[in-house]
Formats: sequence, C-alpha cells, structure tokens
Amino acid sequence: MILFEPGVCQVDVATGQLKGATNRYVKTFRDLAGLYRDESAYQALIATRGDDVAYEVTDYPSANGGDIIIGVTRMEPGKIGDEYFMTRGHIHARPNRPEMYYGEAGVGVMLLESPHGEIRTIEIRARTMCYVPPFWIHRSVNVGLEPLVMTFSYPADAGQDYDVIAKAGGMRSRIVDDGNGGWTTVDNAGYSGRHPSLVEDIMSRVD
Ligand SMILES: [Fe+2]
Repeated sequence: MILFEPGVCQVDVATGQLKGATNRYVKTFRDLAGLYRDESAYQALIATRGDDVAYEVTDYPSANGGDIIIGVTRMEPGKIGDEYFMTRGHIHARPNRPEMYYGEAGVGVMLLESPHGEIRTIEIRARTMCYVPPFWIHRSVNVGLEPLVMTFSYPADAGQDYDVIAKAGGMRSRIVDDGNGGWTTVDNAGYSGRHPSLVEDIMSRVD
C-alpha cells in the first residue's frame, strides 16, 4: 500500500480561499439561470454582473475511496428580488455520504431537504459547525451583508447530483428577506416533489 502524504493548507478568511489548494472552480451569476423566483430581477443582474463570480470553491481533492476532501467556499452577499444569493445545491451522488461545514465569516443558512421533501434550516456564523447528514439535499445561502466563507469536508467518493433539485422544480423552500434585514423561508410555488419510486431509489443507494 502506498501512503498519502499529509497535507497542510491555510484558510484565508479575507479572500475566502484555501491557500495551498490544488483545485479551484467558480460559478458566475450567469451560471445560475433558473434558480431564482424573480426572473426579471435575475436578468437585470445578469445585464451588469453576469460574468462576476457568485461563489467559488478552493479545495484539496482526492479521488480515492475512504479519503476526504477539504476545502473553502466563498459566496458574495446580495439578493435577486427578495431572494438571497445561494449555491446551486445538490445531493451526493452516493447519497449516504455526509458533509461538514464550518463558518469562517459572514452569516449563512444551510437549507436542507430530505428526498421526501422535509425541510431544515441551519444558520451558520463564524465558528458554527454544521453537520449535513447522509441523504440530505443541501444548498448554502448568504443571508448576511458580507461574503460568506465556510470550510467544508466530505468523503472523496461522495460526488454531486444537481439534477435531483432541478427535476423537482427547485427546493421546497426559498430563503428570502423577512423585511427586517433577516431571513425567512417561503414555499417555492414551482416545487413538484419527487415520485415515491425516486425517493425509494435514492434511499436504497447505500454502497
Ligand atoms: Fe455536498
């Protein structure tokens, strides 16, 4: 057996990046078409900021089963209409894999949905550790006025499935401004849910 070398990376809270990371990807606002309720507000944003980075990930990946991936994510603050900026969201392709998020800066919400359509929200501030259990769809939302920076870690063989959200017409809830500078959840009118056979298929993937 060949042993992996130990690694060390630094969390740069100011830039929201992991220094020493070997991988980086970004999502621009243009990449997030179809996520937001207010399409005209989205188009107005795209007209001026379409190529700006909405969120980015720097990580230290591994493709080896049994290993973990560590990384940092940074998301811009702001809203489209009354809906806060968010990530696309996913369930793990191996859905029984968990994840951990740790707040470094800003104020965020982890929006979680079970395959059956149950919703949970966890507010994340600096030094909050958020546990995303196996089988939960998850999306992070920046509900603050500053960039949201979080450290994360998850099993290297977890993978990401984004279609599980798109096929259901989005997640069941949206995170919006409550009118007082805070946040609240509202129903997503476009949500169609999942057929019981799809739920059963997801819940049976336990390899
Ligand atoms: Fe994940």
